[in-house]
Amino acid sequence: MSETRPDLTVNEELLATYDGPIPRHVAIIMDGNGRWAKQRGKMRIKGHRAGAGSVRCAVESCRYLGVDVLTLYAFSTENWHRPRGEVSGLMTLFDVYIKKERRRLVENGIRLHVIGDRSRLSKKLRKAIASLEEESAQNEEMILQVAVSYGGREEILRATRELGNKIAAGEIDADDIDEELFSSALYTEGRIDPELVIRTSGEQRISNFLLWQLAYAELYFTETLWPDFDEAALLESFGSFAARQRRFGKTGEQVEEE
Ligand code: FPP
Repeated sequence: MSETRPDLTVNEELLATYDGPIPRHVAIIMDGNGRWAKQRGKMRIKGHRAGAGSVRCAVESCRYLGVDVLTLYAFSTENWHRPRGEVSGLMTLFDVYIKKERRRLVENGIRLHVIGDRSRLSKKLRKAIASLEEESAQNEEMILQVAVSYGGREEILRATRELGNKIAAGEIDADDIDEELFSSALYTEGRIDPELVIRTSGEQRISNFLLWQLAYAELYFTETLWPDFDEAALLESFGSFAARQRRFGKTGEQVEEE
């Protein structure tokens, strides 16, 4: 848990009951907004708006519990194929989120980093993102990575091209490329890989999310729809993480000895 007392709106009493291990990097595939809205006879965008409330809860809960990096899958490269109205509604929601949460994120020591292909975003949204990234760049309590217009394969191709160009320019040798150098060329800039991946709404897929970085992640799937994902649901996922033995290819006996 962090030493500074943050200004949070989460259920601290409940969060304080958790005394298990904290995954250093949590990545979440936020799914089920559309179904949540449909169950209530509402438009899909209302589900996304409700989902933005869960984003605040997840961000502040992870900050409270001492997670180092939280990555949220907000919009995939494939999501561009959704109906135009939904895409523009989501883009507006990201813009509103950045403006509305700006003060709270900065004051709570959270650093924002958006991962994905920004060239497809509007100039206005790009500007809002860059401005908050700059303002929060020195924050050290937690890194919030938001994946927008993000695709894992695209990220890998982009890194490959970047390293290929460096080889062509004589800046590096092909033999210099190891896991560390390759990781540093990804959008995630060599940060620690996710230890726990959560996907809500009962789907059990990775959907082109952090394909390189998830190599050893623990996967956790829950039926809970994203707008209903609260502090209790997060603690349940941490509890499941706590019960796993992470072996990284070794035997159970080796890990126990360590
Ligand atoms: C998937 O649910 C969700 C998305 C594609 C959008 C996620 C966006 C938010 C949670 C909005 C706020 C985000 C930020 C970062 C402020 P779905 O629409 O595919 O749900 P369905 O499978 O039930 O249709």
